Amino acid sequence: MRYLGKNIKLIVNNLMVSYTDAGPDDAPVIIFIHGFPLNKSMWNKQIEALMGNYRVIAYDIRGHGDSEMESEPFSIDLFVNDLIGFMDVLKIDKASLCGLSMGGYIALKAIKRNPLRFESLVLADTTCIADQPETIVKRKNAIKSIKEEGVVQYAEESVKSLFAPESLIRKLVEIAAVKEMIIATTDKSLCQTLHALSVREETCSFLSSIKMPVLVLVGEHDKITPPFAAAFMHKNIIGSKMFIIDHAGHLSNLENSDDFNDRLNTFFATVYGRPEIIDSETYNSFVKKMGKQLNMFLGFVMK
Ligand code: MLT
Repeated sequence: MRYLGKNIKLIVNNLMVSYTDAGPDDAPVIIFIHGFPLNKSMWNKQIEALMGNYRVIAYDIRGHGDSEMESEPFSIDLFVNDLIGFMDVLKIDKASLCGLSMGGYIALKAIKRNPLRFESLVLADTTCIADQPETIVKRKNAIKSIKEEGVVQYAEESVKSLFAPESLIRKLVEIAAVKEMIIATTDKSLCQTLHALSVREETCSFLSSIKMPVLVLVGEHDKITPPFAAAFMHKNIIGSKMFIIDHAGHLSNLENSDDFNDRLNTFFATVYGRPEIIDSETYNSFVKKMGKQLNMFLGFVMK
């Protein structure tokens, strides 16, 4: 039996995992994987935009949002085990993945390990390279600062690099939501995840083996996983598409959700041969632009 809603609980690998599930029962499944140190709620606008045509699922990675943590040390491989276990418990044989940043690291590793379970992939604001020495030092400093100065200070610092400079002025609601997500994460989980990120393996050498439709998206001002990292993945994944999201930094799905959603919508419509969803605002402005011609066309079709 399937449960629909925003905070459904499920046991995966002996751990309670929280997830959102929306959309028609028999529709293609898209699983959203959040970035660090966020949670599934970062995907609310994408879920809203796609749930008319797809079964859309966003889950909290262990130790994030409302999912339990347990004591096992974190690693990207452990997060992949959780994802596959989650699909098994929900009896989802095949799905598309959309991962942002850490979500992209998990998605790439999941496809490398289980290529037959996935149909298409969206890599948003992410990279295939492992941490470079200077990033490892930054992670160590972040762990120290969380332990000494606390999570609130860490949240204040984090948003400065997560958002584009213009979003820091304009996207106050999104900034507040992101700070809340960070502060709601325990310091133990933050430190364990920072360590897991710092020791993750590269996935660049696997890109040319990916045999499925791939969309690469990146915010024009992403400082953490910049456009050149996206371009590298696009160049090495045969047949992939890449788009730069304007007016956005590292959290392009939150900073410019309209463009991000349009790209997703077009991509999945191509992957699954489904009509694109046109929201009423777009439809009305289209009708206004087309005016007489459209009326004539509709008159013709309705005859
Ligand atoms: C994320 O958004 O998931 C993080 O910025 C990833 C990272 O720090 O490598």
